[in-house]
Amino acid sequence: MSKIEVKLGEIPEGKNMTFKWRGKPLFIRHRTEKEIATEEAVDMAVLRDPQHDKDRVAKPKWIIVIGVCTHLGCVPIANAGDYGGYYCPCHGSHYDASGRIRKGPAPLNLEVPYYEFPDEDTVIVG
Ligand code: FES
Repeated sequence: MSKIEVKLGEIPEGKNMTFKWRGKPLFIRHRTEKEIATEEAVDMAVLRDPQHDKDRVAKPKWIIVIGVCTHLGCVPIANAGDYGGYYCPCHGSHYDASGRIRKGPAPLNLEVPYYEFPDEDTVIVG
């Protein structure tokens, strides 16, 4: 069970789905054009853990991250928070739709696991 295969056609645009992978939540989000444009335009200077959106995705439509807050490990809520991404209710960390930490105590962006797209509709994580 070290890898998980997900059919991307099951995830509607604008939605995040949570899977279980290696005992952790795995978030796969189908981003809208607007979300992609917003995340690509973020100025690196405002980021605590500066990473360009392009370095966090293989295909801009899909953001794939481990759903574990980098503060103390709670599971953030999708489509919530001040930056249109994820919100961790434990101590109030806000992540954007690239999974980057934007506000609150978490020190780092949500982790991007290794994955590949064997075809247009499939991703294999792990
Ligand atoms: Fe997420 Fe503390 S564990 S903010």
